Amino acid sequence: MGALAVLTAAGSGSRLGANLPKALVEVAGTPIVVRAAQGLAEAGCSGIVVTAPAQALSEFRALLTPHIPGYPEVKVIVVPGGVSRQASVAAGIAALTEVSAKESVAEDTVGGERRVVLVHDAARCLTPAEMIKRVITAVESGLNAVIPALPLSDTLKKVGASYDLSSGDGDSFSVQEVVDTVDRTSLAAVQTPQGFTLETLRQAHDYGTERAGDEAVSATDDAALVEALGKKVHVVLGDARAMKVTTPFDVQVAEIFCAQEE
Ligand code: CTP
Ligand code: MG
Repeated sequence: MGALAVLTAAGSGSRLGANLPKALVEVAGTPIVVRAAQGLAEAGCSGIVVTAPAQALSEFRALLTPHIPGYPEVKVIVVPGGVSRQASVAAGIAALTEVSAKESVAEDTVGGERRVVLVHDAARCLTPAEMIKRVITAVESGLNAVIPALPLSDTLKKVGASYDLSSGDGDSFSVQEVVDTVDRTSLAAVQTPQGFTLETLRQAHDYGTERAGDEAVSATDDAALVEALGKKVHVVLGDARAMKVTTPFDVQVAEIFCAQEE
């Protein structure tokens, strides 16, 4: 019984600014969403629900169904996402029984407490399988919510009010006042996939459901919903390759990385 996964790919990619959804943008010849799904399959996921932009379902289905390239044994379905990442994950959770149906396990087993469900950003398309396995193993060994994270290397400042300064040539730029230097030793930069028992993930999304309709107040990760529920979340070591492709610069970095791997 492999892990199940919700792969979020329904965003538009406004910061990337391509003329197609970010998850369809290619990195070294392969669309971001395909790379991300292959990583989950490589780590042993047996069923994947992909959330896609409602207007691009057919393009996503053409790439990912009936199966992702190289992994005929992994069941994949594509469903429309929602207005926020949180809403997209909720739509994915609702469809999980559909990808587990093929495994001939009873519904109550699918809902069993130790069934591992990963929630992963398609944008983190170079996440290595070994890191994904670390998350799965930690949930299998008894933790209800596990997230990968890296220590921060930059010095962190808390900043306050911003002012506009004019340069001599008529341009202006903004400056901000430093309020404090933050102790970074107790901070971590969080990645995906985040791993949960099916029961914990369902409970957390049910509890936080009223936040899902507005991206501004919605949870930016699933662990935050578990924390709101009052349940413990644990961190395992992340990986630099699990970077989120957000800007055109990130696509260039990902391309260079792929070129070196070949
Ligand atoms: N996502 C989603 N549904 C949404 C918004 C985001 O499934 N309503 C997914 C994205 O496709 C992405 C992941 O959540 O894989 C992380 O989001 P982000 O990197 O912010 O992607 P976008 O929202 O597409 O990018 P941007 O914020 O620049 O528009
Ligand atoms: Mg976004």
